[in-house]
Amino acid sequence: MELSRLDDVGAFGELADVEVDELRELQLRRLRWSLRHAYDNVGHYRAAFDSAGVHPDELTSLADLAHFPLTSKEDLRQNYPFGMFAVPRERVVRVHASSGTTGKPTVVGYTADDIQTWASVMARSIYAAGGRPGDIVHVAYGYGLFTGGLGAHYGAEKLGCTVVPVSGGMTARQVQLITDFEPRIIMVTPSYFLAILDELARQGIDAAQTSLRIGIFGAEPWTEAMRAEMQQRTRLAALDIYGLSEVMGPGIGQEAAGHPGSLQVWEDHFYPEVIDPRTGQVLAEGQPGELVLTSLTKQAMPVVRYRTRDLTRLLPGSAYPAFRGIEKITGRTDDMMIIRGVNVFPTQIEELLLSVPELSPHFECVLSRPDRLDELSVRVESREPDADADALARTLGTLIKDRVGVSVTVEVLAPEAIARSQGKAARVLDQR
Ligand code: DLL
Repeated sequence: MELSRLDDVGAFGELADVEVDELRELQLRRLRWSLRHAYDNVGHYRAAFDSAGVHPDELTSLADLAHFPLTSKEDLRQNYPFGMFAVPRERVVRVHASSGTTGKPTVVGYTADDIQTWASVMARSIYAAGGRPGDIVHVAYGYGLFTGGLGAHYGAEKLGCTVVPVSGGMTARQVQLITDFEPRIIMVTPSYFLAILDELARQGIDAAQTSLRIGIFGAEPWTEAMRAEMQQRTRLAALDIYGLSEVMGPGIGQEAAGHPGSLQVWEDHFYPEVIDPRTGQVLAEGQPGELVLTSLTKQAMPVVRYRTRDLTRLLPGSAYPAFRGIEKITGRTDDMMIIRGVNVFPTQIEELLLSVPELSPHFECVLSRPDRLDELSVRVESREPDADADALARTLGTLIKDRVGVSVTVEVLAPEAIARSQGKAARVLDQR
């Protein structure tokens, strides 16, 4: 099969037939091109390869990639705004940027071909989730410098769907458009979808009676418990989509319908590795560590061994056997809270709090340092106003102590007390 055809919607039905050998051959050819392109056209990569004593021509197998230097967000920051571009700025038809909490944003650029590639991997992702030409797709990811809205938009259009580009916010109107336009698919962050579910309930609409059948949720970590919560309140299949601006945007990995637990990585465009975040050593398939991605076809801003800081592991292919998968992201290396020596991720808190039926899925983790020791306080909401807050706090506190191994303070607040996200939820408030 000519694998470049896999970017055509008409060939998506053949994704499952790709042979692993032909995929590996294509990856090697594309990787050699990509390393050469980065080396010849981006000062940062030339200097980094030279100082590591490696040259693109020395790559003779995919495993040789491990000899090449890793790239970090800091490297992109130091080349702000356009220093990582590998084509003249005039060929860049679009920029996006990820804000980050401090300092300058990270800028990414796309040629017209890059935008096409991105639309293809997004179209494939929607297809893998069960979307088909003709479906109505409600896009509630934010439009703008964030890659979520426009990424979903171009992909859904390419697949041949009817796109409703709502963006984030104005939750009452989201509900109105869902009930009036009857979309089959919604693309939104899981935390904002919860806010939409709450608004449906407030308007007295049963979420299970809406037209929604597929939810494509990403841009932040979410757990199996959250999937169960969302699927139980609706009639949709909740599927995970992964991506990051530095590498492209959404559409790097997608959970296929009927194959929960593994996100297919579109390996003909992005080459995945998992490393030990402390040593940088490449880990074998199945070992947990930090995901590292190399772009194979990007023109405007190739990335070589980009450290995502996202924690996962590589899995064998599932719905599309030639393409490896990644496990649901459990958290980011920089989201990890260390409480008296114990590593705690917000996803662990989410999983546990959703096991208490009286608690709502909205929560935040507040870090403080009252007596030179870090303290974690978990703020949650009861579902009902007259709940016994003290008893619920004890229940969750005990669960966290028993399962995670740390003592935390739990505050159970009234329903609606925690600010709703309209995009990515801020789970950790650092008051130290
Ligand atoms: O969040 C791209 C995106 C948009 C992905 C819409 C999916 C849907 P950034 O703003 O650059 O790009 O943030 C990227 O978000 O490194 C992860 O830490 C996190 N992230 C993205 N998707 C997932 C996911 C977009 N499915 C950062 N699960 C990444 C867990 C995710 N974390």
